[in-house]
Amino acid sequence: MNQPALTPLMRQYQSIKKQYPHALLFFRLGDFYELFYDDAVTAARELQITLTARHRERGTPVPMCGVPYHAAESYIARLIRKGYKVAICDQVEDPKLAKKLVRREVVRVITPGTAIDAAAVEARENNYLAACLASPRQDAVGLAYADLSTGEFRATEIAAPNALERLAEELQTLAPREVLRPQAADFTTRCRQNGWQLSFVETPVDDWVFSLDYGTRLLCEQFGVVALDGLGLADKQLATAAAGAILHYLRDTQRSSLAHLDRIAFYQRQDTLVLDTVSVYNLELVEPLFGNDRSGTLLATLDETRTALGARLLKNWLLRPAVEHAEIEARLDAVEELLRETVAREELRQALTHIYDLERLLSKCTLETATPRDLLAFRTGLRPLPTLRHWLGQLYGPRSRHLHEQLDELADLRDLIDQAVSENAPASAGEPGIIKPGYHAELDSLRTAQSEGRHYIASLEARERTRTEIASLKVRFNNIFGYYIEVSKPNLSRVPPDYERKQTLVNAERFTTPELKGYERKVLEAEEKISSLERQLFVELRRSVAAQATRIRKTAAAVAQVDVLANFAHLAAHRHYVRPRFSDASEVVVAAGRHPVVEKLEAERGERFVPNDLYLNDSTNLILIITGPNMGGKSTYLRQAALIVLMGQMGCFVPAERAQLPIFDRIYTRIGASDNLARGRSTFLVEMTEVATILNTATPRSLILLDEVGRGTATFDGLAIAWAVVEYLHTHTRARTLFATHYHELTELGESLPAVKNLHVSVKESGTEIIFLRRVEPGSADKSYGIDVARLAGLPPSVIHRAREILVRHERTEHAVSEQLTPVEVTAEQLPMFTPLDQKIIRALREADLNKLTPLEALNLLAELKKKLE
Ligand SMILES: Nc1ncnc2c1ncn2[C@@H]1O[C@H](COP(=O)(O)OP(=O)(O)O)[C@@H](O)[C@H]1O
Ligand SMILES: [Mg+2]
Repeated sequence: MNQPALTPLMRQYQSIKKQYPHALLFFRLGDFYELFYDDAVTAARELQITLTARHRERGTPVPMCGVPYHAAESYIARLIRKGYKVAICDQVEDPKLAKKLVRREVVRVITPGTAIDAAAVEARENNYLAACLASPRQDAVGLAYADLSTGEFRATEIAAPNALERLAEELQTLAPREVLRPQAADFTTRCRQNGWQLSFVETPVDDWVFSLDYGTRLLCEQFGVVALDGLGLADKQLATAAAGAILHYLRDTQRSSLAHLDRIAFYQRQDTLVLDTVSVYNLELVEPLFGNDRSGTLLATLDETRTALGARLLKNWLLRPAVEHAEIEARLDAVEELLRETVAREELRQALTHIYDLERLLSKCTLETATPRDLLAFRTGLRPLPTLRHWLGQLYGPRSRHLHEQLDELADLRDLIDQAVSENAPASAGEPGIIKPGYHAELDSLRTAQSEGRHYIASLEARERTRTEIASLKVRFNNIFGYYIEVSKPNLSRVPPDYERKQTLVNAERFTTPELKGYERKVLEAEEKISSLERQLFVELRRSVAAQATRIRKTAAAVAQVDVLANFAHLAAHRHYVRPRFSDASEVVVAAGRHPVVEKLEAERGERFVPNDLYLNDSTNLILIITGPNMGGKSTYLRQAALIVLMGQMGCFVPAERAQLPIFDRIYTRIGASDNLARGRSTFLVEMTEVATILNTATPRSLILLDEVGRGTATFDGLAIAWAVVEYLHTHTRARTLFATHYHELTELGESLPAVKNLHVSVKESGTEIIFLRRVEPGSADKSYGIDVARLAGLPPSVIHRAREILVRHERTEHAVSEQLTPVEVTAEQLPMFTPLDQKIIRALREADLNKLTPLEALNLLAELKKKLE
């Protein structure tokens, strides 16, 4: 190709850009960062800034756009939030000193997973970078993740069965901003096929980055150990490789110390209550099913924390509730104590309000990006610590005592910054005026010299005016010529002989004198020394903060926990939540339970939530079948059960009058396809895949919510499946289950299976109105309810009458049709997740005409079905 000769500057640009093909290169030119070629086109579009061209005159215009360097942070943040990567290329020598072309280097690469600037990350959420890889046979995966802005670093391994599926779930819970993976691995297509919204950027990296040897070496270096055993990573090859890839990528992009990543924790999913992805969605824990309004999520409902540290921990606990009895009780004890000690609670919450995001500030110090104002904010954020510690000291529970011990007032750091950093410190570390007078003797004497010199020069103007009798004579300063005396043209004749000419303008001449030169040198030298000394002192300060990483992190963790526990106590006090009792018994007893989110939203509208009881055990009330009209409150009742369990295991009090709970290991929530429009994946196959997952993985200690499952297909198919699922849960899984359904027929199971109970949501007719009482009561609902509702709504009697006729005929013909169409060789492909035995049962069910069966015949049929299962 015949490339026209590039200017040296563009050659320099090209050679740097070549090393960062996947990032937008911010190329520093004077007071601007410029982007060229495709980068410019992209940035101009995304930032809505003007696209221009460079070198038009040479015939090959280069697309270009730019942003002022002092405003770059917000532009970069916008690009990062949109998922782009940005490489910052700075001038690394002083342009004044450069002989020819100024040397430029990439000093940092910012990516969605490694951003730390406040503008690019959410204060109340973690900003995770994750890395994952699969074993050669794809039967196990390693996952590691880090939050560069807080220093959190964790790794895990997930083994068969369904390793990839569970990885996808873990990623979903984690919601990282960026995921590193080997070139060829493609974990996420699967998730996307399932319709899950993954909001991260994928960054493929070279396969060697994921090698075990390399990862081991990086980890040993980072943590200063000789072997991985002490880190809990011995024999964890996949986790090690994934963690290594994280370190590699951070080193590569940050070009600075990563000292605040001072430990790595190996964890296992079953250490916490497992919420699979679909349940996190369906229960609206952190994201709403519809739209963007987060106020309808459990997180928003429970989050009245006072610090970003607390908010992040709360989200963490919410997505990973505890399963260890002692841990749950310890949290509940602390909440109970804080609930009782009103004064301490209010004082603590008050003090927390002023605490700065210690974790993120610490990271900025280690990464050397903290500004003087960041340090001041940090200092201010430390001030409430003694108060916090004082009030914690008034409490006596073991958890409160422990937090009291962990909390360090960090007085030394606070005093250091107080003494060193000026209250009006500039926004950036390169500007003068950071360090307070009295902190450093040499700096003080340089400043004295500087101001004496300036005073002298300032007084020079008056003296020279008198001496020369030129009233318009001026003494001024500019960056290029330094100090000068300016005399306008008409007065030149009066210039004394000791004036030396410096510069000629149109209307004036500029001069200097030996005396002025002397003072000028003194001032400028002092200025230069001051500037480099201030910079050096500031960098030292920042390092002294970074050096206390361990203490700061420990304190930050304690602050976060105090915040969350006080938050729980605050909720308990203001919303009448009670402490749940946990025991090994299998009974769930909730008296007058409420749905925390619906209750709050209704209260805001001035409405009252109707409380309902819940009783489950493993002998007579294992499975509850809940029927009733649309809008009756079935879905709400189901979710309320899950949320109460989940809140309890977080260590939070629960919305009920009394709650007695076992500890659950998993919660599953499935919503039938047609009720589940929000996810835009309403296929019956997906619904059935989800049900298959439950039947395959639930344990007797799991809680299962099935909401209108089976609805995604023709009526009878759906019923048959729902029926078989209930039986399977009853016989095999033995997990406590709530099943809301419009299949009235299912209530027959409530009469025939010993551990199945029927419930229904009640309604009342009042004249022409129908009132939803929202009360859950024993027994099944009236079957023909839809038509009754239609009648109450005022449909003409003839229409109602006709509707009843059609209903009867329809039910008959539908059965007739399905009987005719059912092939003898049934549906092996259609329903791949059922065993042949189940198929037989389904066929038998399909062929049964429930309208014609007497109760006795139905019982016989059931007995037969059961026999087939056994
Ligand atoms: N116990 C209750 N108290 C007050 N309002 C409720 C209650 N349960 C449900 N609701 C309200 O009724 C509406 C319908 O409830 P939902 O559970 O979706 O009914 P279903 O699943 O039976 O169709 C919900 O939007 C909720 O606001
Ligand atoms: Mg519903």
